Amino acid sequence: MANNENIPRHVAVIMDGNGRWARKRALPRHAGHRAGVSAVRKTVETAAQRGVECLTLFAFSSENWSRPREEVSKLMGLFVEALQREVDQLHRNNVRLEFIGAREQLQQGLLEKIAAAERQTSGNTGLRLFVAVAYGGRWDIVQAVRKVADRAVAGELAVDEIDEQVLAKQLQLGGVPDPDLLIRTGGEQRISNFLLWNLAYAELWFCDVLWPDFGEQQFDEALGFFGRRQRRYGHTSEQVEAVSS
Ligand code: IPE
Ligand code: IPE
Ligand code: MG
Repeated sequence: MANNENIPRHVAVIMDGNGRWARKRALPRHAGHRAGVSAVRKTVETAAQRGVECLTLFAFSSENWSRPREEVSKLMGLFVEALQREVDQLHRNNVRLEFIGAREQLQQGLLEKIAAAERQTSGNTGLRLFVAVAYGGRWDIVQAVRKVADRAVAGELAVDEIDEQVLAKQLQLGGVPDPDLLIRTGGEQRISNFLLWNLAYAELWFCDVLWPDFGEQQFDEALGFFGRRQRRYGHTSEQVEAVSS
């Protein structure tokens, strides 16, 4: 178990390895994605129990549109199904569910389920759960720049007033504290165009476990790792120790 005082406020997760999990069992990739939904359920519960405030899950990237059409369509169907099945329980657990990503790229049926889930859980005060679908870190920065540019063109903002805060506010996670900890399952050690801006100072934790096998034990390992990090934000250790003592 991790030290309670050192729990990350915001955990971001790249849920990778569903396809390989299925292949190892001679199952279609889709079976891996389906098994991944149970790991999501467990992870949300564990995060809430450990006192994490925000959890952001990478479910489908901008680049994942390039997968075989059948896989994409089954994944979209699975999202609809998972929302149908899981949202009432999330609501009972006081979870507030929100989506980030290029919504206009999603099909109508899924959009309606997303809007209904967000509406149903909008007043909840427990864990904030962000699900990234059709999300890309570069896309996020571009859509934020466009909003800022619109305001500048409208004369609401001078160009020299544009700073990091102004831009950050227009990102999909504007107003949400940056992730403190990034977890990636499935053995790869890369960001794959996830929250490029927001991960600037996240601690990175990678494991070989495939997403459907990810559970409480791995989550606690990641929290333990996080608890042992000294976050310096460019300062020296001595400076950090002077402030915290
Ligand atoms: C992650 O698992 C889920 C999505 C990207 C939708 P993968 O489907 O990438 O699984 P692997 O990496 O092929 O094993
Ligand atoms: C990252 O996984 C995206 C999600 C988990 C949704 P990928 O499997 O798409 O990443 P790459 O292609 O191996 O970098
Ligand atoms: Mg993958």
